[in-house]
Amino acid sequence: MITSTLSPAEIQNSLRRNGYLDIDVDPTLDLAAEIEKLKKEKNAVILAHYYQESEIQDVADFIGDSLGLAQRAAATDASMIVFAGVHFMAETAKMLNPHKKVVLPDLKAGCSLADSCPPHLFRKFKEKYPDHVVVSYINCTAELKTLTDICCTSSNAEVIINSVPADKGIIFAPDKNLGMFLQKKTGRDLILWNGACMVHEIFSHEKITKLKLRHPEAKFIAHPECEPHILEMADFIGSTTQLLKFTQSDPAESFIVATESGILHQMQLASPHKTFIPAPPNNACACNDCPHMKRNTMEKLYLSMKYELPEIILEDWVIEQGRKCIDRMLEISAAAGIKMG
Ligand code: 13P
Ligand code: SF4
Repeated sequence: MITSTLSPAEIQNSLRRNGYLDIDVDPTLDLAAEIEKLKKEKNAVILAHYYQESEIQDVADFIGDSLGLAQRAAATDASMIVFAGVHFMAETAKMLNPHKKVVLPDLKAGCSLADSCPPHLFRKFKEKYPDHVVVSYINCTAELKTLTDICCTSSNAEVIINSVPADKGIIFAPDKNLGMFLQKKTGRDLILWNGACMVHEIFSHEKITKLKLRHPEAKFIAHPECEPHILEMADFIGSTTQLLKFTQSDPAESFIVATESGILHQMQLASPHKTFIPAPPNNACACNDCPHMKRNTMEKLYLSMKYELPEIILEDWVIEQGRKCIDRMLEISAAAGIKMG
């Protein structure tokens, strides 16, 4: 444990070791109320992904999918952005706001998909296709974004692929499942990087089939990061925001949901009378909880706001070069009328 009386160097050492501020928090504190106070005091905004634990979602100023969060980060006039999500999301917010402080409650909240595409290997891969346009899913490191022409998220990926002239080849990284889904949707022949999300690759075809038989009235909805044989069974495929909206507008009363379980909180709040069943993974663990997203806790969120640490720091060249593909994505999305969601 460290205490707040430690020197800045000791605090930095602890951050390097743990990824977060390891300071005891008084268990009697009303953390939600303290976080509200800190927001006002520091003119801070909390941006949270749907995969965060429900208590964090409840104190957030904006809850969204990766596109919505990037759009909000680009538009905010807050002095400090507190990112309740994973590292690549906070990096994106920093690239869009190089002069603002961006904090992430736990720097070790990473992403298996982003990790599956190390920039030094991707650089070599890209050299084999010198005339191709690189489209990268936003779930990648800031450095990978410096090697990317246009970024995309699961909300706008089809529009982004279709924005590339038909005579141009495309490399798509890092998610092969989203890539295969896009090949089907757009008819484009994409060169795919062989990466995947550990959470969306875990769903069991057999168990979902049995669950569908037990709940014939339920619609099966899935995120495009799932494997093709899971997507084939789906009544609807979409980003987290699109899945949430579908459950609100569709007349079905129950849904089997194949994505990270955090989204069920907003689905249930939006449609209290409907039933939401998390799609089962292929073993007995809680694998449809993203272990990276769930590293953030209310205590870590509170400490990150109080001490304004851990902060996302990026080198200037990474911000300058990596930002271009995000700006391009936001321009194309705005031109296509994809609203902030
Ligand atoms: P979206 O936020 O685009 O739905 O993607 C889900 C995801 O895996 C984020 O890490
Ligand atoms: Fe990465 Fe998958 Fe977790 Fe999203 S759910 S942060 S893609 S590991």
